[in-house]
Amino acid sequence: MLTIALSIGKLIESALDLFRRAGYTITGLSAESRRLIFISPEHDMTFLIVRPSDVPTYVEYGGADAGIVGKDVLMEQESDVYEPLDLGFGACRIAVAALKGEAAGGRLSPKVRIATKYPRITERYFNARGIPVEIIKLYGSIELAPVVGLADRIVDLVETGSTLKAHDLVEVEVIARSTARFIVNRASLRLKQESLMTLIRRLRAVVPSERPSSGNSRPKTLQTRKKKMVRS
Ligand code: PRP
Repeated sequence: MLTIALSIGKLIESALDLFRRAGYTITGLSAESRRLIFISPEHDMTFLIVRPSDVPTYVEYGGADAGIVGKDVLMEQESDVYEPLDLGFGACRIAVAALKGEAAGGRLSPKVRIATKYPRITERYFNARGIPVEIIKLYGSIELAPVVGLADRIVDLVETGSTLKAHDLVEVEVIARSTARFIVNRASLRLKQESLMTLIRRLRAVVPSERPSSGNSRPKTLQTRKKKMVRS
């Protein structure tokens, strides 16, 4: 039995569609349901519906064997998981934004105040540039912070750009690009290698122009073994 953690929210519909296209139709599993666990005896799989930021935790600590989550969350949490597939959907960018007219930074105090739900990404990015920042951690509605004077800038996800536009904000810099990733627990990869490899092969077959995931993939020895298994 494989346990898969899916993130509720923007990625869930595309994730369910991906599983459907790969031949795993799970009766009763829908984004609208209030159920948080769906067991599929037919596919020998259990699906968990969790918050995006909890997916890497479930996978890293073995509450789930694998999961689907945005690269933005993985970058923020630096979780110790394998990341074998870039699924392509959920494309967005992590960007610095400011109120229109203040994007040039002329009125900024010596220490720039930045509101974000990505404190680690923000800290790494500005530290690397030697820019002192004060980070204000928020959990959502980040775009409000500059509007009410809580912060000089924000670091947030931009997908269509319409939330920025609606609050008179403009992108200043792009920090990173993000897409949904398939992640795997390290121990599960050894203990349930056959079923995980079958799942990865079937998902890979339906991901348009799948490219190996960048970042935390797997040790070379296992990579070679995986390639052989997946292609056999
Ligand atoms: C995300 C992000 C932006 C918005 C960007 O928020 O934090 O607010 O989507 O999308 P857009 O560029 O298409 O407008 P989310 O919907 O996840 O809600 P949140 O504010 O609660 O984090």
